[in-house]
Amino acid sequence: MTTPPLLQARAERIVEEDVSFRTKMLEIAAGQQDVIAMGRGDPDFHTPSHIVEAAKRAIDANEHHYTHPAGLPDLRAAIADTLAKGYDLSYNVDEIIVTAGVQESIMLCMLALIDPGDEALITSPRFTTYDTAVHLCGGRAVPVPTYERDDFALMPSEIEARITERSKVLVLVSPNNPTGAVTPPNVIREIAALALQHDLIVISDEIYAELIYPGSEHLSIGSLPGMKDRTIVLNGFSKSHAMTGWRIGYLAAPEPFVRLVTEPRHTLSINTCTISQHAALAALTGPQEPVEQMLVAYAERRRVMMEAMDAMGLTYGHPGGAFYLYTNISASGMPAPDFCEALLREAQVMVFPGELFGDDSGHYIRFSYLQPLERIHEALARMSVFVEKLRI
Ligand SMILES: Cc1ncc(COP(=O)(O)O)c(C=O)c1O
Repeated sequence: MTTPPLLQARAERIVEEDVSFRTKMLEIAAGQQDVIAMGRGDPDFHTPSHIVEAAKRAIDANEHHYTHPAGLPDLRAAIADTLAKGYDLSYNVDEIIVTAGVQESIMLCMLALIDPGDEALITSPRFTTYDTAVHLCGGRAVPVPTYERDDFALMPSEIEARITERSKVLVLVSPNNPTGAVTPPNVIREIAALALQHDLIVISDEIYAELIYPGSEHLSIGSLPGMKDRTIVLNGFSKSHAMTGWRIGYLAAPEPFVRLVTEPRHTLSINTCTISQHAALAALTGPQEPVEQMLVAYAERRRVMMEAMDAMGLTYGHPGGAFYLYTNISASGMPAPDFCEALLREAQVMVFPGELFGDDSGHYIRFSYLQPLERIHEALARMSVFVEKLRI
C-alpha cells in the first residue's frame, strides 16, 4: 500500500502516539451499563455559578473581541495579586501571559526553551503532555522517577543522577499527576540549590497547588532566593475552580522572557477566549467559598478511598494534594493494564494504569476521586469483590 501524500510529507517531529489502550477501554465501557469512571482528571463539580454569570455578562456586554495576546490587564493584575498573596511570588502585570489552559503554557515554554538535543528532566510518573511538547521541539524527555517509599516526592538525588551537559529544563510538578505527591518545602529548597548549581531552568507546574490536604505544605520554588530569574510558574483554573472546558491558565515569568514569548503566543491562538478571561477574573476576585467547599468534598473522598485501599490490603503513595490516588496493585499478580481491563469488564469501574503516565513498572493504577461520594462507595464495593476473587 502506498503512503498517502500527507503522511509522506510528515515532519520528523511528529510521531504517532499509541492510544490503543485508552481507546480499547473506552470501547469496552461503551458496551457496558453503569460504568463508574474514575479515570479522568476532570472535576465532577460544575463551575461555580458566579463565574458562569460573569461569563454571561461578558457576552451580553459585547466582550466578543480580541484582547492583548498576554490577556486582559485586569485579569493579569488579579493573577499577580493571587500569586503574591497565595504563593509569596512577586510578579507584575507584564510578567504574566494568560493561555488556553496550562496545556498551552507548556507548549509555549518548550518552544521557547528547547533546541534539538536539549534535555528536559520531568517528575515521573508524569503528565505525558510534557514528553510530547519536548519531542515536538526536538528535545529529549528525561523522566526522573519517584517512588512509593517516598510517597512519590521528587528526590534531589534522582535529579542529580540524570543531569548531563544537555540538561536545560527541570519540570517540577507538585502536587503531581498521577500520584498526588506534594514535594515537601525542605526538598523544594534542595531542588532550588541544584537548579542554581547546574544552571537549570525550572518549569514549576502548580495547577494542583490549591488542592493541598492537612499535613502537607506547598512551597512555590520561584519564591526562593535567586529562583525567580530561572523559574516559570504555571497555574490555572481547570482543577481548582472546576473550569476544564473554559480552557484558561497562565504562566508567570520575568518580563524579558514574557516579552520574548508574547509573539509566539500570538501566533498560536492570538489570545485566550475573551469570555473565559472574564470568567477567570470572577474566579479570582469573587467568593472563594465554592473552591473551599470542593476541597472539603475531595478531602472526604480521599479519606474514604485510602481507608478502602487499606481494607483491601493495597498500598499507595500518601497523596498530599490533587485528587488522585496512585495505588499499588502488584499484590493482585496482574500487570496494571490487565488489572484495569478486568476491573472494567467485571466490575464496571474504569481507572487507568500507570503506563499511561510513563510508568512501565506494571504495578500501579491511578484513581481520580471525581465522582459523588455515593458513587465512590459503590465503585469501592465492586472493586473489593473483584480483588477478593483475585486472591482465591
Ligand atoms: C500536571 C498537569 N499540568 C497541566 C494540565 C493541563 O491543564 P489545563 O486544563 O489547564 O490545560 C494537567 C491536566 O490534567 C495536569 O495534570
